[in-house]
Amino acid sequence: MSRDLKPHERIFVGLDTPDIDKAAHLAKTLVGSVGGVKIGKELFTAQGPDGVRMAAGGAPLFLDLKFHDIPNTVAGAVRAAVHLRPKIVNVHASGGRAMMSAAAEAAREAAEDLGVERPQVIGVTVLTSLDAKDLEEVGQMGPPEAQVERLARLAQNSGLDGVVCSPREIALLRQVCGPDFLLVVPGIRPTWAAAGDQKRIMTPEDAVAAGADYIVIGRPIAAAEDPLAAARRIAADLDAAAVDA
Ligand code: C5P
Repeated sequence: MSRDLKPHERIFVGLDTPDIDKAAHLAKTLVGSVGGVKIGKELFTAQGPDGVRMAAGGAPLFLDLKFHDIPNTVAGAVRAAVHLRPKIVNVHASGGRAMMSAAAEAAREAAEDLGVERPQVIGVTVLTSLDAKDLEEVGQMGPPEAQVERLARLAQNSGLDGVVCSPREIALLRQVCGPDFLLVVPGIRPTWAAAGDQKRIMTPEDAVAAGADYIVIGRPIAAAEDPLAAARRIAADLDAAAVDA
């Protein structure tokens, strides 16, 4: 777990909108007060790479495009993504060892060629929208947690820097994958925010205490009346918890 991060640097804010002006305004408001922004398929597909650049402004970027294809294609996609200077990019761990190795290698090479910092490449294990029955329907028998653990180990052995995981998986994966494996965690809700459609939630303080490196927060900040105040409040909560620890 990264110990050298300031509390606010652990927060990545999900810009979950196809509206570039809205996203850019939010990023501009929050830059410097959070660790960065997460941009996913919605904005990318609507606005393209230039839209992502404009929306992120100068904020550190988690490019959440969850690539999943044959190794050669994913490597090409990762190489193209490096032009956006992301801090973090991700792929589906279920794409397998060769695909993940190709992604890691492509990130290294492209960053070197461009003379930029190498993005951290992380894996998505099992989408939290899938339960045991859904997994069975696609041929994955057994408890979802076993599949999460299997894919996290494979991601690590394939040269990835970490995984996205749900709050309830932090402790297990920290134990299984060790202290240096990056854990990026959505499903975060401060006690003072509405849960919305997130069910298995954890507070920012508890997630970081359990071993999360970065926490991904969308609506509690983006939909707040005053997003900057909400971000600062979360950072202050993290700060207070770190002092208490
Ligand atoms: O608004 P909220 O805080 O729920 O947003 C969380 C962000 O993290 C969204 O971008 C959502 O798509 C993403 N995410 C998630 N749960 C996962 C994976 C990603 O909520 N398991």
